[in-house]
Amino acid sequence: MNKGKVDALLGIVFGDEGKGKVVDVFTPKYDIVARFAGGPNAGHTIIFEGKKFVLRSIPSGIFSPDKINIIGNGCVIAPDLFMAEAQELETAGYDLRSRLHISKRAHLILPTHRVLDRAYEAAKGKNKVGTTGKGIGPTYSEKASRTGLRVGDILENFDEKYQSLKARHEEILRHMGYTDYDISAEEQQWLRGVEYMRTFTLSDTEIEINRALAEGKSVLAEGAQGTMLDIDHGTYPYVSSSNTVCGGVCTGLGVSPQSIGEVFGIFKAYSTRVGAGPFPVELFDETGDRIREIGHEYGAVTGRNRRCGWVDLVALRYAIMINGVTQLVMMKSDVLDTFPVIRVCVAYEKDGVRTSDMPFDTASWQAVYEDLPGWQTDLTGLTSEDQFPKAFSDYVAYLEKALNTPITILSVGPDRAQTIMR
Ligand code: IMP
Repeated sequence: MNKGKVDALLGIVFGDEGKGKVVDVFTPKYDIVARFAGGPNAGHTIIFEGKKFVLRSIPSGIFSPDKINIIGNGCVIAPDLFMAEAQELETAGYDLRSRLHISKRAHLILPTHRVLDRAYEAAKGKNKVGTTGKGIGPTYSEKASRTGLRVGDILENFDEKYQSLKARHEEILRHMGYTDYDISAEEQQWLRGVEYMRTFTLSDTEIEINRALAEGKSVLAEGAQGTMLDIDHGTYPYVSSSNTVCGGVCTGLGVSPQSIGEVFGIFKAYSTRVGAGPFPVELFDETGDRIREIGHEYGAVTGRNRRCGWVDLVALRYAIMINGVTQLVMMKSDVLDTFPVIRVCVAYEKDGVRTSDMPFDTASWQAVYEDLPGWQTDLTGLTSEDQFPKAFSDYVAYLEKALNTPITILSVGPDRAQTIMR
């Protein structure tokens, strides 16, 4: 943690790296925890005081009593889902009103954005992105089209602005021939969500964050999704719609590049992906099924099976470069405890050509592996590095060397005690 700096905690592959488990290692050190991109497509599963919460839009600092939590301008927010998420936390006794600030510049996801998300996906036929259906893409498109509604809009003449945008969406849907939908119940709940949001601190969060930094306070930028789902650097078009990389922290919170301190890159000891799109390390065999089963790799938002494979050094090196990762956090190491051989994707190959750089289109490339011996030892009871079986120490050292970045936090089990700091 650096005073007067923004540290970033970023998923550096396809999201779902398990940030939720380590946030409580991170959040107590910071004064402010801020989300800078994405919306309710995220699902950070956090177990706090024995109760499980799935945070979609609200930063994870909400569980620590003295932290300010910010939903930044780079985020998109659905009032109805926000209300459901916030009320669950309020019911569980967490005080949100004084500690959760929402940027007036964040964009609103309308019920009709969700219909448009479904309609665009349906129109794509076999090229579906496999979105979470939360209206993320249409909302960011609207932002780029300069026709969107922002959180600050709910403070004045909102009904007029809402009706006008909704009518525009209905017109688009009519043109697409996508008319079989009914949002009336959803819309009522959404409008209640808008009322509810009005009772929160809606502010110029970029000014608030910069003032806090000038006072020497520390900020944790909590990423969502992952680098390979970034709109610019991910596996386009099979990506989300925002900049999930470290550059997105600057634009999504309104902080300068000079204010960035440490960049923590989270990855799993293996790879997963939800939704469609290229995934060269994907395993279609029993090993993939075993990783899914042992690692409980099912989507937190949609419940879909996650596609599973071995760790991908091509993707990780690329992500470390794009984000300027200074420290790595490796999650779910214990999921590989029973495998006799651990494979590592070291390069991609196509037509006899090998590359270790991320290609423009990974779809036509195949993974090239190196095999390492498995540790075949239960890691879940380990509490310090000197207890590591040799094969596991070797795996960690191999990754650090190949990635030229230290792995400073290792997770060896689902419980927060099963986290080893190095
Ligand atoms: P969208 O963000 O809902 O538009 O979905 C675009 C793609 O990103 C789909 O493949 C989703 O499955 C994926 N995606 C979006 N959010 C997450 C996340 O938090 N974790 C993992 N995948 C995600």
